[in-house]
Amino acid sequence: MKRTKIAEALQLKNFGEEVNIKGWVRTRRGNKNVSFVALNDGSTINNIQIVIDIAKFGEEYFKPITTGACLSVNGTLVESQGQGQSVEIQAKEIEIYGTADPATYPLQKKGHSLEFLREIAHLRPRTNTFGAIYRMRHHMSYAIHKYFNDNGFYYFHTPIITASDAEGAGSMFEVSTLSMNDLPRTKEGKVDFSQDFFGRQTNLTVSGQLEGELGAMALGLIYTFGPTFRAENSNTPRHLAEFWMIEPEMAFYDIKDNMDLAEDFLKYLIQYALDNCKEDIEFLAKMYDNELIDRLNFVVNNNFVRLTYTEGVKILKESGQKFEFPVDWGTDLQSEHERYLVEKHFKRPVILTDYPKEIKSFYMKQNDDGKTVRAMDVLFPKIGEIIGGSERESDYDKLMNRVKETGMNAEPIWWYLETRKFGTAPHAGFGLGFERLMLFVTGMTNIRDVIPFPRTPNNADF
Ligand code: 4AD
Ligand code: MG
Repeated sequence: MKRTKIAEALQLKNFGEEVNIKGWVRTRRGNKNVSFVALNDGSTINNIQIVIDIAKFGEEYFKPITTGACLSVNGTLVESQGQGQSVEIQAKEIEIYGTADPATYPLQKKGHSLEFLREIAHLRPRTNTFGAIYRMRHHMSYAIHKYFNDNGFYYFHTPIITASDAEGAGSMFEVSTLSMNDLPRTKEGKVDFSQDFFGRQTNLTVSGQLEGELGAMALGLIYTFGPTFRAENSNTPRHLAEFWMIEPEMAFYDIKDNMDLAEDFLKYLIQYALDNCKEDIEFLAKMYDNELIDRLNFVVNNNFVRLTYTEGVKILKESGQKFEFPVDWGTDLQSEHERYLVEKHFKRPVILTDYPKEIKSFYMKQNDDGKTVRAMDVLFPKIGEIIGGSERESDYDKLMNRVKETGMNAEPIWWYLETRKFGTAPHAGFGLGFERLMLFVTGMTNIRDVIPFPRTPNNADF
């Protein structure tokens, strides 16, 4: 018999007919004669109830049908008498695909902490919480592609292995096939990367932007969506060493167009989650954050506040608030400052623009004041920075000046610099951290809980 997914079975009305359901046992209750097994197959947060007449199958056969076991059930669809569900299955035949010994199965009991579940990342997808989150990751990924496709953007694939440091931050994972125990050396005693796989030093990308700009300078509107790697040793609830980033890059956009796109894009994604992930969001709201749905609606329905970094710093200095890190013009804003502006002062998302050039990347368009660049950071409640972007410096000489001033090596990005020599154009773009978005739409508070296999300092076991 063809399998019916539980999400579909729960909608069926053809009572009396036979169906096949496959899934994992979530709970089992009942008495000596009849057992109620809640089965889940991942197609929905909801379980379907299997009613088992124990005598019919025999005690011995029934015994291993415990939490975690995987079953295939043929049975009759009946209207449920129990509360909270419309449909249940009266079991006729049960095939046990796999048992899960109650003595050792870690998810035997309910109510484990998120910290404990992180230690069993191989099994946590089987919990309601992580099922909901991973389904939502899928829906949000799809929504991202849909938004860009509907708006005339091309998905442009940028490399994961690069020879450049896009952000100039220097916190990169190196990629090499050289033996670390026996590194070839040059006459000067340095590592001889000419003997390495690519004949040069390479690393995992920190951003697809520089290659993305090459796409925008030909296709007009592009976006990237891929894994991104940063080796910064920041053990915070908002940083991963491997995260996914979405980077649209648009020819002929200025910073205002860039901000409009970022705001429209975020609102679209949040509305998409509300419309398409209703049951999962309701579950997460009930379990972790009862303000979640109000917060999502609030962001969709209100304009983001736009102001300059200079104005933002003034507000922070005059706030009388005691911050852990002091704030002054020229310092990088910490998440406590960003959240003060968003949560306490404006009480809505904020786009800060025109940051001091010293704290931003070399490629950002320089303002006439000689001090600031046309950067924009989108700051969200509970998250802080969710998007970072800018209008790009399109003038070759000005860009080269910044490369020199920041002490960057121009050689690995010679190809990038050539875009400013051949048919340069005003353009802009931004990067959205996918897991920061997931934090926002799920209401979770630790970034390790919104990606199936988090990579953080000292953690890459699974
Ligand atoms: O602000 P960032 O560093 O900007 C860039 O990489 C630009 N190249 C983007 C562009 O203009 N095309 O990173 C962009 C976003 C941040 O706002 C944040 O949401 C996310 O990426 N992000 C991280 N997310 C998780 N873990 C980390 N370690 C992250 N670093 C940045
Ligand atoms: Mg940033």
